[in-house]
Amino acid sequence: MKSHASLTTSAAIKTCVTLCLFTLLSTGACGKSDKDKGTGGKPPEATPVTTPVTTPAGPIEITIACGSVGHDYDTCKEGAEAWAKKTGHTAKPVGGPTSTTEVLALSQQLLSAGASDIDVLRIDVVWPGILGSFLLDLKAYSKGAEKDHFEAIIANNMFEGKLVGMPWYTDAGLLYYRKDLLEKYNEPVPTTWDQLTKTAKKIQDAERKAGQKDLWGLVFQGKAYEGLTCNALEWIASYGGGNIVEPDGKISIDNPQALAAITMAASWVGDIAPPGVLGYEEEESRGVFQNGNAVFMRNWPYAWALFEGEGSLVKGKVGVVPLPKAEGGRNAATMGGWNLAVSKFSKHPEVAADLVMYLTGFEEQKRRAVKYSYQPTIPRLYEDKDVLAANPFFANLLATFKNTVPRPSTVTGGKYNQVSSAFWNAIHAVLAKEKPAKDSLSELASNLDRLRKGGKW
Ligand code: GLC
Repeated sequence: MKSHASLTTSAAIKTCVTLCLFTLLSTGACGKSDKDKGTGGKPPEATPVTTPVTTPAGPIEITIACGSVGHDYDTCKEGAEAWAKKTGHTAKPVGGPTSTTEVLALSQQLLSAGASDIDVLRIDVVWPGILGSFLLDLKAYSKGAEKDHFEAIIANNMFEGKLVGMPWYTDAGLLYYRKDLLEKYNEPVPTTWDQLTKTAKKIQDAERKAGQKDLWGLVFQGKAYEGLTCNALEWIASYGGGNIVEPDGKISIDNPQALAAITMAASWVGDIAPPGVLGYEEEESRGVFQNGNAVFMRNWPYAWALFEGEGSLVKGKVGVVPLPKAEGGRNAATMGGWNLAVSKFSKHPEVAADLVMYLTGFEEQKRRAVKYSYQPTIPRLYEDKDVLAANPFFANLLATFKNTVPRPSTVTGGKYNQVSSAFWNAIHAVLAKEKPAKDSLSELASNLDRLRKGGKW
């Protein structure tokens, strides 16, 4: 199975992460092997950091932690280099793990050690409550630029009255499908999970019979990490099963709709979804789909540019629609996205904030949307003809983008990662058929209650 190569890559990255952590703590440099088979980011090998020029007048070196999923690294590096050219400063992009859960662990270790190695950090939309105390208030540098962005994201990025992150791009879970296969089998694009399951099975069985032995019906992010929280929240919310923990703090996860949703997802594994899906992050699912080995895929918008890019085996064959809903339920896409923040340990906060403002500004968000299909956080860009020409689905999916389902990170604040990890582990156990769904959800509810301590988050 082709997905195997991607999984091996993932394991290699993980080993690198551990090494990177120490490299970062000691030298401030982090890299990822160039052997990544994806057509996306290629962070450099770790190199020792040069001592930054510290005179205010001279060029300053700003280290920015870029991502490693898809085109994350390339696009971040290009933007940072354009800023360097414009300002005369130097930007040093560094790579990191692909899993947001691992990036969080790494960031927490660096920040709690007071390390000044990284000036600019990428902050997942669910982290302001976790990392906020280590980050600078960007209002001091933004000159009101936050008014250009979606209000909900700015509100999300407030921590104790400080604006701790400038929105860089937003994300929403989407359903990618193979137009050619649906046409071949005369099947409509599914709007319910039930239809998706039946169509996936029909096409998978017929294509396998015809010799396409590696074809699977559906791939998604089933590994025990934050990505599974995003996927499972979509299943549950689409069944009307709530948000795990509600905005008023109530733990709602142990309910019949949530039970129905995860029972459905567990039935996919080994049937229409490969057993290996239990170890898939975004890139493993994308790899399988891009190699032509899946009919449907749940993923974020970044995958679009890669499917349409050179060398893609599915170029011109892919459609994008909202994720299906349960009968009588609703379409639910988890709200994702990333912000840029300045570490309070940065030796050059003003210059670092200038880089943040540049990278999150209109022109740079437009460039990233046109070239790499990153979803802008500036509403005006959804009317931009170049952005729409490169991403036709942005126009059709505006309603999806506006009605995303938030994870319970605001209400659970600093405890969000513990809540999420209890959740993804409980779901993973069900998908892996290690625990009955009913038991897993009721245990989860008790664990969350213990975490909440005294009825308050
Ligand atoms: C994407 C989303 C992010 C989410 C992550 C989960 O990167 O933007 O918000 O936490 O996927 O894997």
